[in-house]
Amino acid sequence: MLRVGMLTSGGDCQSLNATMRGVAKTLYNSGKDVEIIGFIEGYKGLMYNNYKVMKPGDFSGILTEGGTILGTSRQPFKLMRVPDAEGRDKVEEMKKTYARLKLDCLVVLGGNGSQKTSNLLSEEGLNVVGLPKTIDNDLWGTDMTFGFQSAVNIATNAIDCIHTTAASHGRVFIVEVMGHKVGWLTLHAGIAGGADIILLPEIPYDIEKVVKALEKRNKEGKRFSIIAVAEGAISKEDSELTKKELKKKNLNRVYPSVSYEIGAQIQEMTGQEVRVTVPGHMQRGGEPCAYDRVLSTRLGAAAANLILKKQFGYMVGLRDQDIVPVPLSEVAGKLKSVDPESSIIKEAKSLGICFGD
Ligand code: F6P
Repeated sequence: MLRVGMLTSGGDCQSLNATMRGVAKTLYNSGKDVEIIGFIEGYKGLMYNNYKVMKPGDFSGILTEGGTILGTSRQPFKLMRVPDAEGRDKVEEMKKTYARLKLDCLVVLGGNGSQKTSNLLSEEGLNVVGLPKTIDNDLWGTDMTFGFQSAVNIATNAIDCIHTTAASHGRVFIVEVMGHKVGWLTLHAGIAGGADIILLPEIPYDIEKVVKALEKRNKEGKRFSIIAVAEGAISKEDSELTKKELKKKNLNRVYPSVSYEIGAQIQEMTGQEVRVTVPGHMQRGGEPCAYDRVLSTRLGAAAANLILKKQFGYMVGLRDQDIVPVPLSEVAGKLKSVDPESSIIKEAKSLGICFGD
């Protein structure tokens, strides 16, 4: 009997179920006697022995279903070694559950923080296989994470909808796209939605440059402008502050997010009417797009094949159209950010998109 534990960890995204289905179908199809144990709400289920024994039928009909049939929760990596309210060591508790259930391996569908924990568990002797989840596409070791393309579609659709109303009223519109640390989602949705200005965490903006770009459009007779702003966009001025100074400044901010601050600055500097739209968690919701369904199915199958070959300590990732194993130790703790010098940024700039730099 092959006993496989499975969990979904961190912020959810559209293609988690499709990925679990890919793993499960491949394992069941191998002809081996397989039992899959699903942990409820991510690492929490593994810590506190909360699980359910899955049946093949649980993985049927979920290819197109958003969210996760197992539930998820955020269990920050930095708190893993901090004892819980009852003084229990979370890592030791997870190891105990793994041993008690006589698992042969653990499959972790998660983003950056979750894969750091999966690497820690791997170092602690557990057999772990990781799968790259997140709408942020910021996991090192894979060209693409599942969930990203579905979120790009939703954020693009939001920009498309804003386009028509912005054009009718001749206003400046800011659409705030998810992504605190990296700007992949904003960059792709911004380009796909025809944004005039795109502001990313990786390219600190100068508000004067943003205003200049808006004025240029006005002079060209354009009646409206669209700005795609990442949640984590940062001004040049703020990017030069120390972490401590920035934290202090953030405490005194009057705006709910960076987009509102930029909006107020633009209104004051140009006299133009500005509106802000925040699609928020809509970007993580709904069904996975076709691209994600294919990617998830392939990643799921590849993860199951690693398990069948007893190759542990890897995350599966997409590299140049192929699915490949990447050591968890190489993935853990690294962020895949947008390179300001990359060709996609250069191409976007060459057609006149302003990045505020
Ligand atoms: O990591 C995915 C993500 O959606 C980020 O883009 C976003 O900043 C964050 O999660 C939101 O987190 P939460 O769902 O905990 O509010």
